[in-house]
Amino acid sequence: MENQDFSGHAAGWDTPPRVRLAQDVAHAIRRAVPLHREMDVLDFGCGTGLLALALLPHVRSVTGVDAAQGMLEVFRDKIRRRALDAATAVYRDFGKGTTLPSPFHLLVASMALHHVEDVDAALATFRAALLPGGWCAVADLEPEGGLFHAGSNPGAFHDGFDREGLGRRFAAAGFAGIAHAPAAEVEKPLPDGSLKRFPVFLLTARRP
Ligand SMILES: C[S@@+](CC[C@H](N)C(=O)[O-])C[C@H]1O[C@@H](n2cnc3c(N)ncnc32)[C@H](O)[C@@H]1O
Repeated sequence: MENQDFSGHAAGWDTPPRVRLAQDVAHAIRRAVPLHREMDVLDFGCGTGLLALALLPHVRSVTGVDAAQGMLEVFRDKIRRRALDAATAVYRDFGKGTTLPSPFHLLVASMALHHVEDVDAALATFRAALLPGGWCAVADLEPEGGLFHAGSNPGAFHDGFDREGLGRRFAAAGFAGIAHAPAAEVEKPLPDGSLKRFPVFLLTARRP
């Protein structure tokens, strides 16, 4: 099945709730992973670069990969305007069998894994993109029963993730030191107009 092309959402992507979510996820990553200025970071499903740019002051470089050219263009525009030599945005569509750039000290993915149909294949690819001892930090929705994407985003393949179950999949993909914690909450209107808060977790793991 095809993943949804987010390009049509790119121009209006950076809403206050999404900016706040990226900042909260960046804080959660900083609590869980000892970031330093010799770290090269890959942001899978980087979108407009909200998380990558929140992490950039704490690491050496960030590389964003995304399947939506429109999202990448917004990210590249930020990179150009701010003259950021240490940030790059490159096209990769995981579902089309492409490999990720490598090697990295840390791979992050925020709100992207639920858009990937074959999670186990993605985790194996994440591991392969990391240096030995490298970290993986995935932020995503707690199980949400399909409410988060109700009436929108048909490209979501998973209604959030059970953290323990996802942790077992990380272990099966060859990761160690698996831990998870609440990271953020994101508010979204439901089709009936009411606002709902959806909890987001951060799962961290290391390539041995
Ligand atoms: C919900 S958005 C999150 C964007 C960003 N991480 C953020 O938090 O603002 C999901 C992103 O994952 C990207 N994506 C979805 N499926 C993908 C795939 N198979 N390969 C690469 N990127 C993908 C989408 O294009 C989109 O930019």
